Amino acid sequence: MTRIAIFASGNGSNAENLIRNVTAGEVVLLLCNNPKAFVLKRAKELQVPAVVFSRQELDDAAGALAGEATHMPAPEASRQERSVLGLLKAHRIDFIVLAGFLWKIPAHVISAWPGRIVNIHPALLPKYGGAGMYGERVHREVIKNKEKESGITIHVVDQLYDHGPILFQATCPVDGTDTPEALARKIYALEQQYFPVVVDKYIKQVAV
Ligand code: GAR
Repeated sequence: MTRIAIFASGNGSNAENLIRNVTAGEVVLLLCNNPKAFVLKRAKELQVPAVVFSRQELDDAAGALAGEATHMPAPEASRQERSVLGLLKAHRIDFIVLAGFLWKIPAHVISAWPGRIVNIHPALLPKYGGAGMYGERVHREVIKNKEKESGITIHVVDQLYDHGPILFQATCPVDGTDTPEALARKIYALEQQYFPVVVDKYIKQVAV
């Protein structure tokens, strides 16, 4: 069974949808950068182990030496256990999903799971992506620019923000009267409908 880790930062509606509905693998770990995030309550309720980590623990490439722990001096070994990379390896993670995760994934994590990390973005990339483009900010920009449609993008993660091969997009109309909240509701419906289905299909395709 494919062992999946989810990274999330906030509310966690997408994380919960994946935990409940992905069938090609099992979500065995939830990683969160915000100790106050509601997603942690969801993980507890759904009995998925969750870990809160710092920016330093995410950026720490110490876990790259996992498997050589016995050859390392003790302080190095414990640092390795605390790094996000070390944690992912300790949980034997095969596949990673970013579900509303707002930090950039460092290069050493991407190269350890090449083509095995996917992200969801609440707009039609390549438009409205990049640093600072998340949640309601995206919808506000879309409305400000009088776009006629928006949607969701699910893509493989590469070393750039909100970038990488696109697996799937779905669109929704943007009406002249839409508020950011109204557009967010349309996007939410698309995410709930498609994210687990697309993740399932891609996991089967890459056969992890
Ligand atoms: C979702 O709309 C997701 O597409 C977006 O954050 C929201 C998280 O909601 N992701 C990004 O903006 C990434 N750049 P959730 O916490 O309820 O799943």
